[in-house]
Amino acid sequence: MLIFEDEPTKTEQSPQADVMLAMNSLQPVSHDYDKPSADTDMKAEMADNPNRRISIEDKQIINCSADVNQLVPFKYKWAWDKYLGACANHWMPQEISMSRDIALWKDPNGLTEDERRLVKRNLGFFVTADSLAANNIVLGTYRHITNPECRQYLLRQAFEEAIHTHAYQYIVESLGLDEGEIFNAYHEISSIRDKDEFLIPFIDTLTNPGFRTGTQETDQQLLKSLIVFACIMEGLFFYVGFTQILALGRQNKMTGAAEQYQYILRDESMHCNFGIDVINQIKMENPHLWTKAFREEVTELMKKAVALEYRYAEDTMPRGVLGMNAPMFKEYLRYIANRRCQQIGLDTLYPNANNPFPWMSEMIDLKKEKNFFETRVTEYQTGGALSWD
Ligand SMILES: [Fe+2]
Ligand SMILES: [Fe+2]
Repeated sequence: MLIFEDEPTKTEQSPQADVMLAMNSLQPVSHDYDKPSADTDMKAEMADNPNRRISIEDKQIINCSADVNQLVPFKYKWAWDKYLGACANHWMPQEISMSRDIALWKDPNGLTEDERRLVKRNLGFFVTADSLAANNIVLGTYRHITNPECRQYLLRQAFEEAIHTHAYQYIVESLGLDEGEIFNAYHEISSIRDKDEFLIPFIDTLTNPGFRTGTQETDQQLLKSLIVFACIMEGLFFYVGFTQILALGRQNKMTGAAEQYQYILRDESMHCNFGIDVINQIKMENPHLWTKAFREEVTELMKKAVALEYRYAEDTMPRGVLGMNAPMFKEYLRYIANRRCQQIGLDTLYPNANNPFPWMSEMIDLKKEKNFFETRVTEYQTGGALSWD
């Protein structure tokens, strides 16, 4: 089974702290919903005294007008904990030696043609995917999540996406690959382009400067885009690629690249879990968004995403390679899709789907596999996480 340490956190649904204090808020709110009388009282109190100290009841994940510059008091402790966890996992690409990878890549007999195709197609997807992810956070999601502890994590996540893009670029440069070919793959390789074209409308929704939440329609658009980003992009579209490179590493090939991917997988696993926590929190605070039609729409998107990622698996592995083949990934993707649906409260899509790569579970839970590639301790901590006594 996949191991996800951070299960979606069930926090108490707050009273609808739907106050209209605009001071210091980056996002004025206009709600269409009927307000309970308690909200009306709070609104009146905030209007009377816009400098009133913030309490946790004032905080909401979306459509909150309380001052976003005040980190505490924490309401969503899980978001702050993930921020601290992410900082403790800091790493940089150039800390990892690529010398063995370079020697293997240059050796005419080092890798098969299928293995080389797999590496190039893999990087072809990832070199631009994390840039899309970063833009989605910085230009989109960040504006619409009106809670400072969640924003604190998003700032860290955005930097991690930059580190991931750096890591892929570092691998491309180390191996001396054709940069034009790799960085244009998302235009030129249909199995990669189709995945990105699936994602881009949802990113465009959030990055559109005119997009505002605050109505049933726009709040559902936001929630849908968050689901696509966390559960499909980071939670599904990365997994064929991760599995392929980590499979190379397990055979003692491309161990530097595999170690980089292992760190990235750890980061992405946390991104995915954070996104799922945000999604579930929005659901709890705004149950009217989770309609039958909405759930059906998300389910259809999930099925389409599984088909697209399977096409990518077929394209990157036209024949069996490294003991894997595309049909194994059909089962794996169904297994992961079931997990994502379960995590956000949707029915399982593919009954009886099993995990053909149980070793990936070990990869996701790095604490169980220190020094897997015999290069260095993979679970390391830096800076503020060190003990100095
Ligand atoms: Fe990333
Ligand atoms: Fe990510």
